[in-house]
Amino acid sequence: MRTASTSRMDQLVSLCRRRGFLFQSSEIYGGLNGFWDYGPVGVLLKRNIKEAWWQDMVERHNELVAPPGAPGPYEMTGLDCTIIMHPQVWKCSGHYDLFHDEMVDCRETKKRYRYDQIRGRWVEHGGRRYFMTSMAESIEEAAEETERRALKLFKLRGKDAGKLVWEEWRMLPEIDNLADVVGPDTTTPGTLTEPREFNLMFKTFVGAMEGREHEVFLRPETAQGIFVNFKNVLDSTRVRIPFGIAQIGKSFRNEITPRNYTFRSREFEQMEIEFFCHPDASAAWYRYWRDRRLQWYIGLGLSGERLRLREHDREELSHYSTGTADIEYAFPFLEPGEFGELEGIAHRGDFDLRSHMEGKLDPATDPLELERDAEGRPKWRGSGKDLSYRDPVTGERYLPHVIEPSAGADRATLAFLCEAYCEDEVPDEKGKLQRRTVMKFHPRIAPVKAAVFPLVKKEGMPEIARRIYGALKRQMTVFYDEKGAVGRRYRRQDEIGTPYCITVDGQTLQDGTVTIRDRDTLEQWRVAESAVVEQIVARITGDDAP
Ligand code: GAP
Repeated sequence: MRTASTSRMDQLVSLCRRRGFLFQSSEIYGGLNGFWDYGPVGVLLKRNIKEAWWQDMVERHNELVAPPGAPGPYEMTGLDCTIIMHPQVWKCSGHYDLFHDEMVDCRETKKRYRYDQIRGRWVEHGGRRYFMTSMAESIEEAAEETERRALKLFKLRGKDAGKLVWEEWRMLPEIDNLADVVGPDTTTPGTLTEPREFNLMFKTFVGAMEGREHEVFLRPETAQGIFVNFKNVLDSTRVRIPFGIAQIGKSFRNEITPRNYTFRSREFEQMEIEFFCHPDASAAWYRYWRDRRLQWYIGLGLSGERLRLREHDREELSHYSTGTADIEYAFPFLEPGEFGELEGIAHRGDFDLRSHMEGKLDPATDPLELERDAEGRPKWRGSGKDLSYRDPVTGERYLPHVIEPSAGADRATLAFLCEAYCEDEVPDEKGKLQRRTVMKFHPRIAPVKAAVFPLVKKEGMPEIARRIYGALKRQMTVFYDEKGAVGRRYRRQDEIGTPYCITVDGQTLQDGTVTIRDRDTLEQWRVAESAVVEQIVARITGDDAP
């Protein structure tokens, strides 16, 4: 059984492929799990999202005034760091030792799964009892799939399904004896190995030699590039605390079970800010960033009810952090009531700067202490560089605290795609209602901002339409289309979410006006040809930066 939200997701995935938003990477060779390519329309959407983030967080930020809700004015600047960094970066950050998932292997199928993502339910028949597991994404699919395999295991026919006695769903880590467990892709009990740790960083080698001393990693987050450049930024600019450094870039994680379209990919892009402030002001800055980031998504069209802010409980927090919140979205591939993380906003104290200065800290110590090896030496040595900050006015020297709003560009793109997807009915040229699929993107992130059509390919209409197209093209992404019935041309633009369509028709030849059609309201109005660019620019860039 497919749920309504699963089929909605299937329809979105199909639209994304058909209209050039997203393709599976290396598709002609069968694809590569966890890797996705953005097509001609998708690349525009994702770039617009990244640009909106950069503009709103960095470029348009006015450091001379305190924005609403901020404890005071602050500065923002940016960086673009390398993907491969000195291996010591990951040793001091903790990723080398701690950035792992537990996985189990199936001895029979040779498949590998993330231990904490396998769910299952006990089934009993004729005095035998097994824990049947599944990796299906929805409970309905998992139920169907485990029943099919249990029937096979107990050598029963479909009509005997009622003889099976099922218990409630549980996650695999709750089960003590793996000998009773039937792996997700087999009908033989006891084929799963005990869980083992698996580091998520992709490894490669620098130079011609392979071997431990040449081993480097593809960064699993952009944040560390910012921490290790903290001093460079201070020394090369006039920024003063409080200030933030922003970066957008690729990150790589060798996820054991990439899933849910682009939600959990192995190559993805992050949009991260490390905001440096005085320790006494850090709690107030944390609240500011948490609320500001939530508003950013709302301002660009994510709806209040599918979006939520979830503060971590005390037990979930590291002791050096006074707060962490996740901005979450109810993605349609999740079960009703479930939310997936879009962005995390973390109060990181001075953990990162101290680790890069002194050496890897033990996150379990309170107050934080260096992690030591068996001989009592620092396990991973830091850079030894002084990363403290001296306030030029008060002369106070301190290690700044950090607030980290860390967003995923691909997850944001996926959320905006899910939110935009709509089906409705609109009248065609004869007034008959027709079903349409429309992507209701906020105009700022819409891949194509406007389309220009001549009603017919004669009587001088194409010449006028091309002139308007040329004028708009200098300012934004526009599409010109003169092929087919105008209704079909509208539908094609609706499917990629173009907010405005401009049509040159018979009346244009008489009074020089054209129609502008609004994608969402379907309202059409006439404006003089000379006013088109100004009107479209005003509507697209409407001064509503969140
Ligand atoms: N520097 C902190 C950090 O990297 P994170 O929660 O691991 O924190 C931040 O990642 C954001 O990056 C997530 O909220 C998500 O949007 C995105 N992200 C993380 N792993 C991802 C993956 N495998 N695929 C797509 N996006 C991912």
